[in-house]
Amino acid sequence: MAKRTKIKDILKGGFEGQEVTVKGWVKTFRNNQFIALNDGSSMSNLQIVVDFENEDPSKLKRITTSAAISIEGTVIASQGKGQAFEVTAKTIEILGDSDPEKYPLQPKKHSLEFLREIAHLRFRTNTFNAVFKIRHHLAIAIHQFFHEKGFVYMHSPIITGSDAEGAGEMFKVTTLPFDKTPRTEGGEVDFKKDFFGKATNLTVSGQLEAELAALAFSEVYTFGPTFRAENSNTSRHLAEFWMIEPEVAFADIHDNMDLAEALLKYTISHVVENCPEELAFLEQRLSDEEKQKPQHERSDMTLRDKLNFCVNNEFQRLTYTEAIEILKNSNPNKKGKFQYPINEWGADLQSEHERYLVEKHFNKPVILTNYPKEIKAFYMRMDDDNKTVAAMDILFPGIGEIVGGSQREERLDKLMARMDEMHIPHHELEWFLDTRRFGTCPHAGFGLGFERLVLFVTGMTNIRDVIPFPRYPGSAEF
Ligand code: 4AD
Ligand code: MG
Repeated sequence: MAKRTKIKDILKGGFEGQEVTVKGWVKTFRNNQFIALNDGSSMSNLQIVVDFENEDPSKLKRITTSAAISIEGTVIASQGKGQAFEVTAKTIEILGDSDPEKYPLQPKKHSLEFLREIAHLRFRTNTFNAVFKIRHHLAIAIHQFFHEKGFVYMHSPIITGSDAEGAGEMFKVTTLPFDKTPRTEGGEVDFKKDFFGKATNLTVSGQLEAELAALAFSEVYTFGPTFRAENSNTSRHLAEFWMIEPEVAFADIHDNMDLAEALLKYTISHVVENCPEELAFLEQRLSDEEKQKPQHERSDMTLRDKLNFCVNNEFQRLTYTEAIEILKNSNPNKKGKFQYPINEWGADLQSEHERYLVEKHFNKPVILTNYPKEIKAFYMRMDDDNKTVAAMDILFPGIGEIVGGSQREERLDKLMARMDEMHIPHHELEWFLDTRRFGTCPHAGFGLGFERLVLFVTGMTNIRDVIPFPRYPGSAEF
């Protein structure tokens, strides 16, 4: 194939007077003369000028929105407004037609909900071009951050036999037939006859496996898909989402908070530095959206203000107990404005409470620590008061919980006692308990919800719009 020059490179300059081949998809075709061509390398289009008087009219008709075309031509300085360079076409080849009668996207603004239904085409829109470029840059920044610090990237399994969070929100994995399920003598499903010889599910977290690796490599992280069959139909939950889970030996909860804060700041600054075009576009989009809101709900910060604010300010650290005092005495609580009023210590925090703390009270990211053991997972380290555990959640403006983590219970007796209290059978996790039997040590880790980070950085409002193919209750299209 003829060597293709990327539109991004042509727009940067240095090609003037040169013959190039460009390929891409037609955004618009004006006056039978000007093609706006996009190849995804840049949000900006390249203008192609067509010598329509000497071109076959039947070919011109096929230059329709979203058709794939190849152009050979010369790069020249543009006379028109809006671009520095354009290409005068010598030959035009139609690679793939796009029937304008049937093509579902019009050159106008579509709702994000509508675009979600045509996920194969939404990649061609500016919004999703920007969102998925930023998603890419965030993923690279995360790997770079850990790599520079000497962490080992560990691939945790997707199919597992354990419930890492003990919350029972798992998708089952089985090859047993539904109509003739084999049964044991007692009438239970006989998983011995299943593919793996036991009951298995899609992982909810790679943490337990990461703990095994951390107690050998000292510093590891996972970055992969995780699955939750929770029926949460919200703008913050997906049934399939990506999670980053670092795990560090010889570290306590304070080291853990430092690491999480540094990771968030590093990745956010990386995008601010590397994605100016995408951020400018999304910032405008967000500000247009804000204008639809009533005055008192509008933010006085632009998207980039918000990102820089996060990077330049220390996150507020406080305990769950301190947070409960603030919430108890808060105006919305006293005035009965919370859907779940805060009356006593021990209450689980709802997103309305998290948002109050972050967006109203402190007005910056918050790290909450030392939650009551009853509302946290079995593996978290018991504090000396025997009431709270060494948990840490990071709460972000507009997002709520973005990170959940803890120092782990490294003491075998305490860990087993906690599992008993929570009715978690030991035999399922003997391999995990072995880490506490053979060279246990203090260690800590956390999970960063990748889509929640992308949501924050892009200023989008629904988590379904920051993952290429969202899975949520009632929807697993494509
Ligand atoms: O707080 P979670 O459940 O923690 C864990 O899974 C631990 N094993 C992590 C660890 O310590 N290694 O989940 C971690 C993060 C949340 O803070 C949130 O950002 C994200 O994962 N998350 C979800 N994101 C999208 N959709 C969902 N259904 C999510 N559930 C959790
Ligand atoms: Mg959590």
